[in-house]
Amino acid sequence: MTHLVVHQVHKSFGGVKAVDEVTFVVAPGELVALIGPNGAGKSTTFNVINGQLPPDSGDIRLEGRSLVGCTPQQIWRSGVGRTFQTAAVFGSMSVLENVQTVLMSRDRRFFDLWSKVTGYKRVEALALIEQVGLAEMAHQSCQALAYADVKRVELALALASAPRWLLMDEPTAGMAPAERQALMTLTHALAKRQRIGVLFTEHSMDVVFGYADRILVMAQGRLIAQGTPAEIQSNEQVQAVYFGRQRPVVGTAALKGAP
Ligand SMILES: Nc1ncnc2c1ncn2[C@@H]1O[C@H](COP(=O)(O)OP(=O)(O)OP(=O)(O)O)[C@@H](O)[C@H]1O
Ligand SMILES: [Mg+2]
Repeated sequence: MTHLVVHQVHKSFGGVKAVDEVTFVVAPGELVALIGPNGAGKSTTFNVINGQLPPDSGDIRLEGRSLVGCTPQQIWRSGVGRTFQTAAVFGSMSVLENVQTVLMSRDRRFFDLWSKVTGYKRVEALALIEQVGLAEMAHQSCQALAYADVKRVELALALASAPRWLLMDEPTAGMAPAERQALMTLTHALAKRQRIGVLFTEHSMDVVFGYADRILVMAQGRLIAQGTPAEIQSNEQVQAVYFGRQRPVVGTAALKGAP
């Protein structure tokens, strides 16, 4: 099976069932949004998949192999990349050096004192930077970048390990609407072109309904619905638990942004 499979995963914190019997799959090249109110269990689901937290029970499988018990580093090396909700780049380094550092780590050259970051795989690093639209800023220090550009650097860092899966926890948090759309248009294009399966959490419904191929809805640890944007939009339980009276508009942004 080529899918990322999450099967009957449970994770409790004391008496709180943060993730309760959650099962879903992500296909190659698919953009799947994991949505739900605050405290629904979205980040915990991510952290269980990427190895930050061990599940109490259940399984996470990739190409027939269980990831349970693997370290975050091993899971990363298996092709599961991630971006973080808060920026995780080294501010004092340039965009290029940040990407080069991840390439060194990927190539297990991190502790090689003879290879200097500045000379390391520049062409590959610059290509990654160009992919996220930052070619002109490659030599700028990251701390001088606008917030939206830092999020693009993060995406380049995640892509540096050539992931087949990408976990993005609130990739557009703190961004203005136009920047949000631009980042998701880019993510959508990369996922389709490189067949990367993307699982992302997001509070902005225009992003979710504009870009996701499929939506998973969590509430109080449980997956209460999954389906296409149109199916989720018309699901009454989801309406009641999550949207109230606000009906999201399905599908326009991704169409506009399609390559
Ligand atoms: N390390 C932890 N220790 C104890 N309880 C935790 C821990 N992490 C999460 N929880 C609890 O688990 C539940 C799910 O939290 P989680 O962070 O996964 O929700 P979320 O859907 O990501 O929410 P948000 O939209 O606010 O990011 C919440 O009740 C939360 O308080
Ligand atoms: Mg969260």
